[in-house]
Amino acid sequence: MMRTKLVAGNWKMNKTLTEAMEFAVSLQEHRDELPDGVEVMIAPPSLYLVPMEMVKDPVYELAAQNCSQHSFGAFTGEISAAMLSEMRVRYAIIGHSERRQYFHEGDTLLARKVDACLLHGIKPVFCVGENLEERQEKRHFITVLHQLEHGLYHLSPAQMADVVLAYEPVWAIGTGVTASSDQAQEMHAFVRQSLASHVGEATANRVRILYGGSVNASNSADLFACPDVDGALVGGASLKVHEFIRIIRSAAGL
Ligand code: PGA
Repeated sequence: MMRTKLVAGNWKMNKTLTEAMEFAVSLQEHRDELPDGVEVMIAPPSLYLVPMEMVKDPVYELAAQNCSQHSFGAFTGEISAAMLSEMRVRYAIIGHSERRQYFHEGDTLLARKVDACLLHGIKPVFCVGENLEERQEKRHFITVLHQLEHGLYHLSPAQMADVVLAYEPVWAIGTGVTASSDQAQEMHAFVRQSLASHVGEATANRVRILYGGSVNASNSADLFACPDVDGALVGGASLKVHEFIRIIRSAAGL
């Protein structure tokens, strides 16, 4: 089963508007260097989604970094999937470890956010991953399984087919320590097997599982060579346009 590789940049709370637009323009100028058959996604701060969707014939899909579980209403400071869906936003990152940790987003809430996205035609990029202690105590599979069960396993196979997964071990995020390709492949295969037992093999084989955590242009090729690694969710290295382009190219084996 051929899954289109997806290279996703998660900018987190970085860049000024000027820098964001310079990046977008620069990526467009280098479009000849971008390989066919690799999907590119950028998740800028939500304030920049509108100007970034104005770029003509963009080479990237846009994603929100979060969204509300509600569609509309008195929820000061929130942005909903209903609002995102009116724009050219195709994805929303749900359950990033920073949201889980700093904003106390738990499994029940995240399952509702996934539902809100799907209801409004936004594809959730659902993040799972263990922390260092869980890895050291060899509880990483149990942790990830728990996150999948509570966040996603209420979905039908048809709904699951619209989900992208991201395995992001917390100990690898922003630390410069990436998981080895063996560690990534082992977990990705485990996740796919678990998906298969819930929604069937055909759907599980369609779902893309990204790896995230200190991905850069030097380690991406090894990760992308793993059979169950279908792309990457890139933080720090997605802020530099040339490095991001190198990562995208490596997803096509270039
Ligand atoms: P990083 O972040 O690439 O800077 O480790 C990845 C992420 O948090 O998605």
